[in-house]
This record gives sequence, C-alpha cells and structure tokens, in this order.
Amino acid sequence: MMSFYWDSNDALIQSVYYKVPYIELSSMLREKQNHMRPESILVGKKTYRFVSRPYQGKLPIVEKLSNIPLKTIQIFTEISAEVYYLNRLLWCISIGIGVGALLSIIAGYALARRALIPIQKVWEKQQQFVADASHDLRSPLSVVRGQTQILLRHPDHTIEEESAPISAILKETKRMSNMVDGLLLLARGDSHEEVISCTPVRIDVIIKEIAKKMEPIMDYKQLRVQLHVEGSELLMNGDENRLIQLFMILLDNAIKFTQVDGQIDLECIRQGKSVLVTVKDNGVGISEHELPLVFNRFYKGDSSRSRGDHGAGLGLSIARWIVDQHQGTVHISSGVGCGTTVKIRFPVIS
Ligand SMILES: Nc1ncnc2c1ncn2[C@@H]1O[C@H](COP(=O)(O)OP(=O)(O)O)[C@@H](O)[C@H]1O
Ligand SMILES: [Mg+2]
Repeated sequence: MMSFYWDSNDALIQSVYYKVPYIELSSMLREKQNHMRPESILVGKKTYRFVSRPYQGKLPIVEKLSNIPLKTIQIFTEISAEVYYLNRLLWCISIGIGVGALLSIIAGYALARRALIPIQKVWEKQQQFVADASHDLRSPLSVVRGQTQILLRHPDHTIEEESAPISAILKETKRMSNMVDGLLLLARGDSHEEVISCTPVRIDVIIKEIAKKMEPIMDYKQLRVQLHVEGSELLMNGDENRLIQLFMILLDNAIKFTQVDGQIDLECIRQGKSVLVTVKDNGVGISEHELPLVFNRFYKGDSSRSRGDHGAGLGLSIARWIVDQHQGTVHISSGVGCGTTVKIRFPVIS
C-alpha cells in the first residue's frame, strides 16, 4: 500500500513514486481528489483501489516534504491479484451455473419422462380397456338387434312361437348386464370409489355355503366336489358379499373348464396367521404362455374361445381386485391337461 500527498496547489508531494506507472496513476488520482468514496482505477493492466480524504493536519513528517500546506491524502493499494482471482471465480461460477442449468434441464427431462411412463402406461391400459369394452358390448347388442328384427317380421306370432329369439335376447341382455356390472366395479375400484366394507366374517362358513350353493350345477355337469375345511371359527376381516363373489368366480371357472366326470377340490385351512383357500380342478388347464395373462381385463384363453364360452374375461380381474381389497394374495398354477389350482391367502383375526 502507498500514500499520495497533495498540497493545496494540487501538487503531488510524494517524491518516491514519480516513476511509471505511478506517473500515470498520479495524474488519474489527481482528478479524483474530491472523490470521498473508495474507488478502483485501471492503469495499464493493473488495478488500484484508492480512497481520498482531506488532510487533517496530523502528519508532521509529511508536512516537511512541502512548504505549501497539504490539502489531500490519498491512500491506495494494488488489487490486480484480487481482481484476477475474482474474475476467475466469476468465470468458474458462470461455467458452473451454465453446466448446472444444462444438467438440471437434462435431469428434469429424464425425470419427467420417467414420471410420465406410469401415466402413459395407465393411459394406454385405459384406452385398451375402453376399446375391449366397446368391442365386447357390440356383439351382444348386434344379437339383440338381429333377434328383435326377426321378431318384428312376424308381428302376428305368439310369444310361444317366438320363444327362441326372445330367450336369445334375454341371454344376451343378461350377459351384457353382467359385463357392465363387472366393468363398473373395476372402473369404480380404479378410481377408489368402490371400497369394501369389512366386518369380522367366518371364511369357513362362507366356503361351506358356497359349496352347497354350487352343488346342483356340479351335479348337473357330473363333477365330483371335495370340500375340506380344517379348523373352525376361521375369522377374517372381510366383505361377505364380495368374498362370495370371489369364490363364485373361481368355482365358475373350475366348472366351466373341467370335463364331465372331473373333480373340483375346495379347501380352506389355517396356516399360521393366514387362511389358505384353494380351488383346484382337473380340467383343461392353462398353457404356460397364457398363465401370466389370465388376470388381464377381457383376457379370454384359447380354451375359452374354443368352447364358445360367453364370459367377458373380467372374472379373474374382479377376483384379484377383491383379494387386493382384503390385503390377500392370489396365486394361480396350471398346466395343459393337468388342471388348474388357485390359491388365495387372507390374514386371519387372531
Ligand atoms: N380353472 C380354469 N381352467 C382353465 N382355464 C381357466 C381357468 N380359470 C381361468 N381360465 C382361463 O382364464 C381366462 C380368463 O378367465 P376369467 O377372467 O374368469 O374370464 P371370464 O370372466 O370370461 O370367465 C379364461 O378365458 C380361461 O382361458
Ligand atoms: Mg370366469
């Protein structure tokens, strides 16, 4: 740091700093004698910071340098190194901000894409769902329309004479209504509008009741049924109607896909803190490539199509929704010609 002293004639009194760059510096400082605030000036490639103050008359050593009274004291210091480092710092910060902004744009784009993937999947699923639903609703509708046109051709016929088209219409409307019920349940389940109301229920009693209800159909199809309920008072938190619906779906499949004289096993046993319900048949079974698809909405397997089965392919989707609502798990295993086993596990109330 150095000091410049100016007398009242604005002459610089400091004898040491008359050399370059101080000659140039001093001429610049001279013009800024009345600037009281600290300022920076650039001389050549060097930067100086200075401050000017009126001389207060307390420096006798300096006073000796001139006969004329002192007017101003200027104190300055070279800050080229600081300016250099500050510029470098500024440069680094600018590059950092640029790189950071670029990275955050890339990361934001990648994250947005990742976040959008599930939404896109749901959207595609929803579109597929609507397309499948419209397709499946169209076929019963065209049957109804066709049969009604047949009826209208003979307005003089009695109901008895036209019982065939009337029963076809009835069958199709029933099929349509089942499908719409299933669709509504799944749609309301998706939007969490449909929830189950849980109360403590005896799963063993439900299973026994269902087996009894299904007996006439199984007799009709000449199927043997084996019921095995182990332990009594198997209490779980559940919605009785939905549980009945669930086992009806599974038994309906077992009956549909088992040949005459086949066997269906219905088992309900307690395993630790859960209850395991098994519905097993020795029917046509499901091929390995179809097995992962059976829970998909509107999925109908080859066996279903070849039998002319009129199901909408919503049964197992509804079954899984009911199991999920009860915090349960469902597992299906099968092999072509070996039959199918569906295992459902629910937590029991201990
Ligand atoms: N017990 C079973 N034996 C053989 N195939 C089955 C069985 N249960 C389900 N499936 C296969 O899974 C498909 C879907 O079943 P599901 O969702 O219940 O449809 P749907 O509502 O038409 O009955 C059926 O078309 C059939 O191919
Ligand atoms: Mg079914």
